[in-house]
Amino acid sequence: MKEFINPVKIIDEIDSFYRLPGITLNVGAKVLIVHGKNFLYHYGHKEKVETIFNEQNIPYLFYAIKGFEADINDVMSCIEIIKKESIDVVVGIGGGSVIDVAKASSGICNEREPLKCFHEDITPISKGIPLITVPTTAGSGAEVTPNAVISDFDKNIKKSIRSDYMYPKYALLDARLTETAPQNVTAASGADALAQAIEAFVSIGSTEKTDELSKKAIQLIGKSLIDAYKRPMDLAARKNVLTGSNLAALAFSNSRLGAVHGMAHCIGVRYRISHGMVCAILLPVVMEHNLDSALEKYAEISYVLTNKTYSNKKEQAISGINYIRKLFRHMELDKKLSNFGATTEHIDEIIEKSLKSSSMKHNPRMFDKKDVIYVFERCL
Ligand SMILES: [Fe+2]
Repeated sequence: MKEFINPVKIIDEIDSFYRLPGITLNVGAKVLIVHGKNFLYHYGHKEKVETIFNEQNIPYLFYAIKGFEADINDVMSCIEIIKKESIDVVVGIGGGSVIDVAKASSGICNEREPLKCFHEDITPISKGIPLITVPTTAGSGAEVTPNAVISDFDKNIKKSIRSDYMYPKYALLDARLTETAPQNVTAASGADALAQAIEAFVSIGSTEKTDELSKKAIQLIGKSLIDAYKRPMDLAARKNVLTGSNLAALAFSNSRLGAVHGMAHCIGVRYRISHGMVCAILLPVVMEHNLDSALEKYAEISYVLTNKTYSNKKEQAISGINYIRKLFRHMELDKKLSNFGATTEHIDEIIEKSLKSSSMKHNPRMFDKKDVIYVFERCL
């Protein structure tokens, strides 16, 4: 049975950020605002948030995540604040990592042993507290998904906590907030979004509904990402990429992903490479390796990106992969894993963790040990 679920109320509108206090009051009285290091402090947004919450007399606390990735220690610190301060709604304003910390802490705060959801892969069974998401980068789609990707850097573990209780209540998509994202963040998060859209489209779990969403996402991201990268204040391009990344997330949270994401998490945490960058390195190689297992769909992706048709499907599919390589080159994402210190030294760990991942199980080509080694070595 192929189901399609998404209960998040999505407001995709320029300046929807200003609706945040009103929406917050619909679901709670005391707010924990989880954010990243840069967004609130460096671009004057903190004052904006304080002003709109003060105007409505809504009590709030801020929590800034410590690094650039979602860390289990941040999740536990937020849970402590939620309990101690009787917080009843969490707002995540930031990139995917910030939203994942906000989502995990609001989602598992009422679990008897929250850490077990992470370390022992136990699905949360308690209802948490409501979450409102406000993405400031266009990429992860975490604003509408029911899972949070969390890392424990001391143990080199990166995994997903997933539960139907973890869907946010509201997602505010205000493309104006993404204008201040640094160029390298725009590039890497956009590459993640494109990888997610493509993986959702070719996933063995895809359906007619997810196909329509992911195809539109590929078109919006594939055509506007370079403009958003080159001209940060191009609001129309920013909106296209943000809407595209959101559509990709609606698709992949139902169809699931593939080998890029199956391998990206363990490689990213092992070599401290940002998620978007790992996706950019893996995507073209995985597409080539998968080609014969989803030729029709890869040819369709190519048409969506290039508007060109070829009499030979394989040639057509390859021209789409070339388009993506060129796009990544223009955004300085054409790197190798070895640029980040990766070697074959940890290959056994990468094989084991990649093959266990649920994303890998949805890849159109059945991956075994040899496939992981092949892709990894080509990306080195
Ligand atoms: Fe991703």
